[in-house]
Amino acid sequence: MRSIIKEKNLNNKKILLRLDLNVPLDKGKITDTTRIDKILPTLNFLIKKKSKIIILSHVGRPKGKIVEELSLEPIRKELQKKLDIKVKLIKKNIKEIKNKNFFDAFSEKILILENIRFYSEEEENNNIFAKHLSSLGDIYVNDAFSCSHRAHASIHEIPKFLPSFSGLQIDLEVNALTKITTEINRPITCIIGGSKISTKINVIKNLIPKFDNIIIVGGMANNFIEFFGNSVGKSIKEKNCNLIVEEIVTLSKQEKCKIFYPEDVIVSKDLNGSSQKKELNKILSDEMILDIGPKTIEKIINIIDNSKTILWNGPAGYFENPNFANGSIQIAKKLIKNNKENKIFSVAGGGDTVSLLNNLNAVDNFNFVSTAGGAFLEYLEGKKLPGITALD
Ligand code: 3PG
Repeated sequence: MRSIIKEKNLNNKKILLRLDLNVPLDKGKITDTTRIDKILPTLNFLIKKKSKIIILSHVGRPKGKIVEELSLEPIRKELQKKLDIKVKLIKKNIKEIKNKNFFDAFSEKILILENIRFYSEEEENNNIFAKHLSSLGDIYVNDAFSCSHRAHASIHEIPKFLPSFSGLQIDLEVNALTKITTEINRPITCIIGGSKISTKINVIKNLIPKFDNIIIVGGMANNFIEFFGNSVGKSIKEKNCNLIVEEIVTLSKQEKCKIFYPEDVIVSKDLNGSSQKKELNKILSDEMILDIGPKTIEKIINIIDNSKTILWNGPAGYFENPNFANGSIQIAKKLIKNNKENKIFSVAGGGDTVSLLNNLNAVDNFNFVSTAGGAFLEYLEGKKLPGITALD
């Protein structure tokens, strides 16, 4: 991957810049601007280099049709506000734009082409569409790590036709992920949660040979608690997962990776109820597990203290209700503290974990917080991402 930062000759060049501006929209209003904030350094870098920037992005899943609610207009406005520079949305059908001189007609230095997924060719990874897109610029930059698991035209095919580079954000993301997958400072620990173990099985299997400790929390820990002989009452759990748990336990023994699951828990009769501390063998049939208990928190804190690298993906409990947020908050606080004292390299990722860290204003206290959902997990599964491979 060649980084844009190393390219000297950007002046007056037309840069086709693939970003992931797929931000959550509610009636045309952006409800979380994290993804926009993260790519501002790349835009500022290119602005300083006096390049003309043509942004390509999608928002939502319009499936090859024009869906007005999925226009990039609210995103254009937000970018313009944040950069304090004029940004223009080009609504013209991309396929009718015949050559790159088209863009000379605009005085704006930043142009955004309308939602690239309004064209079915994008998701079809259409080579002719990609060739046409590439004819509109001089250089291609991918700064959309979170889309790089998609073999789509604007991610996978354009690099076949233009000198192609990685952007600043993708460099940071890949660098952070390298430190938890290949260039590891040990001991390394993963704290992994989420409700469905089947969605994380490949991540866990790929990490076991590389990691020293894997701590299972959240809904998926209920499958472990049950597997080891305790009742989980009416807690959420995925059905028919004993084989998956067994596979994880066997592999971890072979690879000498320690697996931890909660030793005590916080239960309630329902999601809005009050919290009660419980030992694993005392959970009643009408109770549900909604957080980890104090002994488990202490154990996790101890493991963090004995680790040099930490990956966190998935909260420890149902943190949306403050009664069940303590486990996640204590983990976050410990990671923040050890990070501030330079004792660990910490990476967090996954939608719920990022919103928890946003609520705690803690995003800046991690070495890296990934906003990529699917791409983050696929990378951790050890898959080659088409967008990254294309840059290589
Ligand atoms: C994401 O939100 O993870 C990326 O923008 C990719 O979106 P997709 O899952 O619709 O391809």
